Amino acid sequence: MNKLICTLLVLTCLIGCNSDDSANTAFIIPQPTNVELTSGTYLIKNDVKIVLESGDEQTLVIADQLSDFIKAQLAVNIYINEEPPGDDYSSIVLRKESSGNVTEPEAYTLAINNEEISITANENHGLFNGIQSLKQLIFTQQKDNEIPQLVVTDQPTFSYRGMMLDVSRHFFSVEEVKRFIDLMALYKLNKFHWHLTDDQGWRIEIKQYPLLTDIGSYRFESMLEKNYEPYIGDGIPHSGFYTQEQIKEVVAYAAERFVEVIPEIEMPGHAMAALAAYPELGCFDINYQVSTSWWESFGVMCPKESTFEIVEHILDEVIILFPSKYVHIGGDEVAINTWQQSNLAQQVIQEHNLKDEHALQGYFFDRVSQYLVTKGKQAIGWDEVLEKNIQSQPTVMIWRDLDLLAKAQEQNTSVILTPGLYTYFDYYQGNSETEPLAQCCFLPVEEVYKMPVDYSADYNVDILGGQGQLWSAFIKTESRLQYMALPRMPALAEVLWSTQSQKDFAHFKDKMKAHEVYLSNKEINYRVIQ
Ligand code: ACM
Repeated sequence: MNKLICTLLVLTCLIGCNSDDSANTAFIIPQPTNVELTSGTYLIKNDVKIVLESGDEQTLVIADQLSDFIKAQLAVNIYINEEPPGDDYSSIVLRKESSGNVTEPEAYTLAINNEEISITANENHGLFNGIQSLKQLIFTQQKDNEIPQLVVTDQPTFSYRGMMLDVSRHFFSVEEVKRFIDLMALYKLNKFHWHLTDDQGWRIEIKQYPLLTDIGSYRFESMLEKNYEPYIGDGIPHSGFYTQEQIKEVVAYAAERFVEVIPEIEMPGHAMAALAAYPELGCFDINYQVSTSWWESFGVMCPKESTFEIVEHILDEVIILFPSKYVHIGGDEVAINTWQQSNLAQQVIQEHNLKDEHALQGYFFDRVSQYLVTKGKQAIGWDEVLEKNIQSQPTVMIWRDLDLLAKAQEQNTSVILTPGLYTYFDYYQGNSETEPLAQCCFLPVEEVYKMPVDYSADYNVDILGGQGQLWSAFIKTESRLQYMALPRMPALAEVLWSTQSQKDFAHFKDKMKAHEVYLSNKEINYRVIQ
């Protein structure tokens, strides 16, 4: 169905079908732990006082964010810790205090009664989460400035609720990345995995190695659609990178929205752009070029001492930019057969008494992972590393087969669930004949919603949470990015936040319908939920 018609239908229903029942629904995504609706509604008046009880500077920042939202959404006057001119005003109280039932840093209580709106939490992150719920009640309101009276008590199931954005295949500007982080934050997603380097482009300024961006951030064209064999290029150059100042700006922006930014610097594979810039990182004396085709790559770093030196220097700069304890160092799809043909690589195998090239990959990963530990950081790797006899206990993203949880258990690594079957949002979400061009495979929103997250009966593994992936080979614009993320990203947010008993896809659909009106008003693209 055309998006405009659908939006009109929803709008008509929200206005025309305004029974007491619908007025008394909380369209909050992800579904909170507990929602107690009372019968009435609360009218937000023309003057609103935001009262900060016992906050700090960060509390003020989030109060400002709430103020900006309400002003834009309801066109009312906001006073933060200031008396409105008359007596007839609404109060929104932000209360940062310990209370019996709020013990988790992200937990909050949102109470709306006849008198006031209040959000109580132990930590600012909890207050921020409560504000996201309040914003959703406001933008899905049934009548002018009226929201349901209720008490929401809420906390997440998983602490890691992430989204990965690939900016190598297609570059997204700072402003586009910020808007993506805004969307994540609205759905209480708290980890932004920034896939900054790959075969098709190096996107982060490294001052000690300027060619990484001078050469590695540019490709002279991209494969036209899916013309692999024979290859056909589009003839359009593609480039872009973030300066270190811009990286800091994004990290700070995300932090104000309680989103932690985790950088990924891919190695030893998916490194064609790095090799094009610094061929000495490779094993062979050849002319490496930033890849223009998707996926196939022989761009593998050579596991020699001078490579580790460069990698460590690069990571030294990365670490300073990202306060997260995690640095993702890739490890997936390494064409280790290239090491079979390299005397240098074979020498390393012999010197370190390694069994084969798989063990050599494990050695590479452990070297870098252990270097990160000396800097107070924890490596993340894609799940291939579980098959490489690693010793360094990184955190692992399982993207292929969830049976790999058995290996994670054996190796005592913590896990983030990123299975292609449920979290690859670059896959088609509808009929490939009518949907815009996407990566292989079919992942409709209802399938995302079915992602299993409780493996406690079968494995003893520390599962931190999960993450959606937006690989961008076929995502060239912000509008397409939004389309691929919505509604699958909010569905995943609910999978990771809410407990099994709260999950109800039919209810999720109703809520998403109500959210579509807001998204349309904000000119955010989405796939209409059906
Ligand atoms: C991956 O999709 N290669 C992690």
